[in-house]
Amino acid sequence: MDQFNDVDAVHRLLEVADELRNRKTTTNILSGKVVALAFLEPSTRTSCSFSAAAQRLGAGVISMNAQDSSVTKGETLADSMLCLASYADAIVLRHPRLGAAKEAAAAVSKPVINAGDGTGEHPTQALLDLYAIVHETQSRGKTFSESEKLNVTFLGDAKNGRTIHSLSKLLARVMAGKVVFRYVTPAAVDLRMPAELIEKLKAAGVEQTEHNEMSDDIIKATDVLYVTRVQKERFSDAASYEEAMKASFRVTAEVASKMKSDAIIMHPLPRVDEISTDVDSDPRCAYFKQMENGMYVRMALLATVLGALE
Ligand code: NCD
Repeated sequence: MDQFNDVDAVHRLLEVADELRNRKTTTNILSGKVVALAFLEPSTRTSCSFSAAAQRLGAGVISMNAQDSSVTKGETLADSMLCLASYADAIVLRHPRLGAAKEAAAAVSKPVINAGDGTGEHPTQALLDLYAIVHETQSRGKTFSESEKLNVTFLGDAKNGRTIHSLSKLLARVMAGKVVFRYVTPAAVDLRMPAELIEKLKAAGVEQTEHNEMSDDIIKATDVLYVTRVQKERFSDAASYEEAMKASFRVTAEVASKMKSDAIIMHPLPRVDEISTDVDSDPRCAYFKQMENGMYVRMALLATVLGALE
């Protein structure tokens, strides 16, 4: 996310996503290009939306995963990337190891897009989350820049949740001193926001508080509720995962009834049990829209990265 240090470029990207969404048809601006999808960790939305995005722009798609590739034979990440780079014009990589995307980018001369590196970051999710926040804010009759301080509550696994890591950085950058972050994580197991990230965000002018319980005060003060799943695959033992799950706060229709009438309820998905399905029909729920619009944001990103908009 640190690479997106040009706020105007971020807004331009979201504008391109808008144009592509409004056009609703496919275009051929990436005709003749090939995008490689290397998903070495499970994914539904990110991999399918990247694949659909590439195809809707006229590009071809090749894919590899961990189970059916030479990764099972012990091939290094750098060698796998060199292989894909010799067939494709860009690589989208999801990998269980923090820092893997950076490593991959250093190994090849083709663009590498980080689609999630372990407990590190998930920058394209943050871009689509920002897109959702901008649009939901506008559809509630507010303008993004005018809104007073935006109160964002991050709920769930702030330690391992890479979507929180990336979105907090992106919001801090685009909204400068106009955001307040609250992190609500269970007390039983340490799922707190990494201390070094809190320090960075503080230096960027973000007001932040940490909580072990969700209170009515927090619920009522929240403009954006960003709910995340406890990241089961990052736990070394099943018992502490179970403990974290037991201590987790669940968003239900009753909880939503206490929220501001113009609040935005978000989740990167997949959900396990942290938002009950009775919230899905609430007009403030944005998670399915996040998912849908993610494809357009990824189309904009692929078109930009592959120079199709120049
Ligand atoms: C997220 C991820 O992979 O980090 N999923 C996604 O890409 N939408 C969130 C998660 O797995 O909990």
